[in-house]
Amino acid sequence: MSHNSGNQAPFAIAILGAGGISNAHSAAVKDSGDTLRISCVIDTNKENARKLADEHGAAAFDSAQQFFDAVDAGEATVDGIVICTPPTVRIEPIRAALERGIPVLTEKPVAMNAEDASRVAEIAAAHPDTLFGVAYCHRFAPPIIAMKQLVAEGKIGRLTRFENTFAFYHPPMAERWMSDPAVSGGGSFIDTGCHSLDLFRYLVGPAEVVGSVFDNDWSGRGESSATVLVKASDGPHAGVAGVILAGWLEPERFTVGLVGTNGSLHYDYMKPTELIYRPGIGEPELIKVESHEVRFSRQLIHFARAARGDAPRGDLADARDGLGAAEAVDRAARAAKII
Ligand SMILES: NC(=O)c1ccc[n+]([C@@H]2O[C@H](COP(=O)([O-])OP(=O)(O)OC[C@H]3O[C@@H](n4cnc5c(N)ncnc54)[C@H](O)[C@@H]3O)[C@@H](O)[C@H]2O)c1
Repeated sequence: MSHNSGNQAPFAIAILGAGGISNAHSAAVKDSGDTLRISCVIDTNKENARKLADEHGAAAFDSAQQFFDAVDAGEATVDGIVICTPPTVRIEPIRAALERGIPVLTEKPVAMNAEDASRVAEIAAAHPDTLFGVAYCHRFAPPIIAMKQLVAEGKIGRLTRFENTFAFYHPPMAERWMSDPAVSGGGSFIDTGCHSLDLFRYLVGPAEVVGSVFDNDWSGRGESSATVLVKASDGPHAGVAGVILAGWLEPERFTVGLVGTNGSLHYDYMKPTELIYRPGIGEPELIKVESHEVRFSRQLIHFARAARGDAPRGDLADARDGLGAAEAVDRAARAAKII
């Protein structure tokens, strides 16, 4: 393993799982100039591994074991690993990387259920000197950061509600692993609702699930849409409500809203540079913001800097944040069955 420490060498990233989301990390590396590079790509699908590896002049591996053997033999250069596999197969690579002192950024959700997320949290806690982050990328979206700051400045008065919809229309999801509970842990709520729960945690506080209703359009698959009510269990905004909507069979909506006693802030991901402030009385105000589209780039650069000790780790979601979302996802699923 090569250890960069603030010198000019690009931070060498291994990508484990070269499917859909690896493209966002690949683009972030390309955007970074000389700051980041992809040195290794690992995927049990050889074609996926080779395609991404060839794009970056990286080494390709067919399995995590083969990659870690190469690391042990001093034949692979890696400063950090980004894990983009389905959640079911992440625990052992996370353990193997942390045991070798390799910083880890794992895609969301941290695991397919709270039990596995708690195992990941134990592994991360056993290696406190090595960075472990969960890729809850919305924490790096400039409009979200602006909303947090505006609330802290009192722009909307006392915060009373978080409103968030991440929904889109994609019937082929019925055939993908994301809707197979044995692989993903659930359906649309664990898929996008975990992002929402982490946003709630970041903007408001830890989420306690109050109630949930799931709709299942596909027999034997995870829920195709979810409606979940949460409230903050702790912190300065304890008691504040959150309404989270997730869906794969709905018109596309990606919005985050914060409502307070003196106004509201509303962000629509389809209007990426516009944050809308509405006062209790009076005309709405358009606040220009940088687009959310930079979030993957910002997150990966931050991961590299934090891994080198050049940036605070706390800006990345950690294992406890990942566990918090996983526990709330499990509770929402249980509550949906009761109602
Ligand atoms: N942050 C985001 O906004 C965002 C968006 C999309 C997906 N994701 C998350 O990223 C993860 C991956 O999603 P995706 O859409 O890229 O899935 P995908 O199915 O497109 O890709 C997964 C890849 O992992 C590989 N893989 C499976 N098992 C493996 C193993 N044991 N070892 C090595 N490689 C293995 C597959 O061959 C495939 O290439 C999911 O957890 C998903 O929730 C995050």
